[in-house]
Amino acid sequence: MTTTFSLNVTRREESLIHCGDVRNLPDIPQLKPVSVLPVLDAGAFAAHRPRIEAVTLRFGSEVLDPLILPGGEGVKDLAGFPALVTAALARRPGRKTRVLIVGGGAVLDAGQFLAAVLLRGLESVVVPTTLLAQVDAGLGGKCGLDAGATKNQIGVIRQPRLVLVDPAFLTSLSAAEIQSGLGEMCKMALLEGGTLLESLRAHVVRGGGIPDADLLAAVLRAKARFVSEDAFEGGRRIFLNLGHTIGHALESLALAAGVPLAHGAAIALGLRAETRAFNPGMAPLVDDLLDAAGLPRKAPAGLSWAALEEHLVHDKKVRDGVLRVPVLGSAGRAWIVIATVDDCAAAAKTLA
Ligand SMILES: NC(=O)c1ccc[n+]([C@@H]2O[C@H](COP(=O)([O-])OP(=O)(O)OC[C@H]3O[C@@H](n4cnc5c(N)ncnc54)[C@H](O)[C@@H]3O)[C@@H](O)[C@H]2O)c1
Ligand SMILES: [Zn+2]
Repeated sequence: MTTTFSLNVTRREESLIHCGDVRNLPDIPQLKPVSVLPVLDAGAFAAHRPRIEAVTLRFGSEVLDPLILPGGEGVKDLAGFPALVTAALARRPGRKTRVLIVGGGAVLDAGQFLAAVLLRGLESVVVPTTLLAQVDAGLGGKCGLDAGATKNQIGVIRQPRLVLVDPAFLTSLSAAEIQSGLGEMCKMALLEGGTLLESLRAHVVRGGGIPDADLLAAVLRAKARFVSEDAFEGGRRIFLNLGHTIGHALESLALAAGVPLAHGAAIALGLRAETRAFNPGMAPLVDDLLDAAGLPRKAPAGLSWAALEEHLVHDKKVRDGVLRVPVLGSAGRAWIVIATVDDCAAAAKTLA
């Protein structure tokens, strides 16, 4: 099935979200074809070239020479960003050029940041091609570059005009990449409770795998509600960081150690440890869901835990030396727990 809905942040910042076959898009009067600068993830492009070219032609009356970027975290390195800007400017984009960003979460983060700063901000259309990017990175307007070993220290919150979510892109992903996306879907389902939690539980109990467009749309609608009420994370949007306080710190440790750790797996670990530490009564619900999805129970070997506190201190939710940690209160409800860095570090170390 195909679903289209919108996320209104401000009157100027409306994002349309389309779930379903990208070759079967409804007419979108707000998005007449213009000059398009494609920013493409090489991994996605290699696997889905015809589908990506079809989207490019749909939105571009003139298509500039694509920027094809290696997928993965390296593309978010601040040190590499000037070269990306130079390459983009060499394509001679104009003020009306639309940046079409296709790829995994890393290319979306770098491409969205590029669109935000190029010529003081160009319109963007985003086509996430991993499950993680479809259910999380593509929607909500956050983008980020990594400064040194700490992730996402540079970025803006700026909504793309359109997000196209097509499950057909997911057929070329490994089981581990699908599982990473399931980690974020579990988070959203725990936050939302009700039928979304039941549908997701049924999906993972059946063996997980690629979700259909309906399940993707249900997760995206839930996320869109949080974002539209609080785009700039002054209030409710903070709950979307469930599992992310410890999850992000683990990702930074893994990045520094060169140990692979998928974002969704890190978030699953964060969800387990934060729930056990701050609301243990909910731990069985959380652990059962994550176990059914096959998500990890322990952090990968090879992390240097000595740097943990330093990464927790860099958490964007630190205020006056304490962390505001979203914690699952009950299915469909989250709370904020005020915790010290030491509390969080102790909780994280139970995953070692
Ligand atoms: N901005 C946000 O709100 C937000 C939210 C969550 C995560 N993120 C960021 O997203 C990143 C992780 O994203 P990810 O999990 O998508 O991984 P990724 O972007 O690192 O991509 C993983 C690999 O998959 C390849 N790939 C992409 N699509 C493919 C396809 N359809 N078929 C085959 N290969 C494909 C890429 O080339 C890359 O090699 C992290 O940097 C994280 O910080 C951002
Ligand atoms: Zn996340």
